Amino acid sequence: MHVLVREPLTECVSFRDLYAYPSTGYCLFGLYRYPAKFIPQVVLYAIKEYAQHGDVVFDPFAGNGTVGIACRLLWYDYELWDINPMLSFLHDFCRINHIVSMKEVIKSLEEVQNSKGVYLPKWDNVAYWYPEGFLEELGRLRHAIEKVENYQVKLILLLAFLKTAKYFSYADEKVHKLYKSKKAKEKVEKLLRDNWRSLMRENLWSNVVYILGKLQEYLLEKPKEVQGVVMAGVDTLKQELDRDVDLLLTSPPYLQAQEYIRSTKLELFWLGHTQEQVSQLSKREIPYRKDVPEVSIKSETYHVLYEAIGEEKLREVYKKYFMSIIGSLQRLSEKVKKRMLIFVGPVYSGNVRVVFIVPMRD
Ligand SMILES: C[S@@+](CC[C@H](N)C(=O)[O-])C[C@H]1O[C@@H](n2cnc3c(N)ncnc32)[C@H](O)[C@@H]1O
Repeated sequence: MHVLVREPLTECVSFRDLYAYPSTGYCLFGLYRYPAKFIPQVVLYAIKEYAQHGDVVFDPFAGNGTVGIACRLLWYDYELWDINPMLSFLHDFCRINHIVSMKEVIKSLEEVQNSKGVYLPKWDNVAYWYPEGFLEELGRLRHAIEKVENYQVKLILLLAFLKTAKYFSYADEKVHKLYKSKKAKEKVEKLLRDNWRSLMRENLWSNVVYILGKLQEYLLEKPKEVQGVVMAGVDTLKQELDRDVDLLLTSPPYLQAQEYIRSTKLELFWLGHTQEQVSQLSKREIPYRKDVPEVSIKSETYHVLYEAIGEEKLREVYKKYFMSIIGSLQRLSEKVKKRMLIFVGPVYSGNVRVVFIVPMRD
């Protein structure tokens, strides 16, 4: 592998200037609000600049699957991994290869409208997030969507439903972490005083319109049916890469900046994951996991930052974080033929500013 070492922070670059693209939320890049997702211009630029015809691009912390969408737009094969099962659900939208009409979606839901039944998340705590009436109505809607036969239409309805289920919950939509805020409670109380059943339907249909628009933008970009391998629910610390790839292009977690499984919990339960599955996934998330193999880290900056963090608990998280990321990237690098392009922003651990890229580069 060719190792490109550059001093960090020597050059300020605006990726929006490097790669002309309508907006960060354009086409499928704006489909869902995944925490800390890539700015698409960064990925599009990096692939265009460093990949050559026939290359395979690999993202072992793929999240929302931004790298997969970019590869389809630029015609490269790819492989994506993530601990979060949302990856495979969201990635399935890239496989839709024709424009789906609103008429088709309405017809499909009408056909199953009268199927009796309620589909509730398999989660003891679900009632904490909804007033009773909302939960039952959402459960009926979710049950009907489950009966839709056309997979692509079902996918669109499911995502629209997940957005509606979030809006009608006590969870604060503006915050990624699942969090019951005063503002969200006031929103629910206001909805309860209103004609909320019809508002719920209206909300669902406006989400469908939004999703269809994003899909249309994507298809107008002429994506290619390239080969994409997607492994969701896998642990990058343990998973083996069984082939060579050309580029590793990723953005690993930023210390404790996000809790990805917790942020998407409502969605995961509504998609049918069980309490046990979600709890197991949370336990393997970096940097919250306990079982991290020891790795020898030679970077001086790593040790200076470690000493600077006074609090023992934070030091432990810091150490586990770097052991997890550097350990997995080092292991995976053996299968990377050309370059590893790693994007991480700085965050604070206590009052120490951790510039990740320096220990990672070292
Ligand atoms: C910064 S996000 C990546 C976002 C992605 N670049 C995008 O555009 O959506 C980091 C990802 O690492 C994942 N992650 C955390 N621990 C993991 C583990 N043990 N194995 C695999 N993925 C993990 C999280 O679920 C999260 O999606």
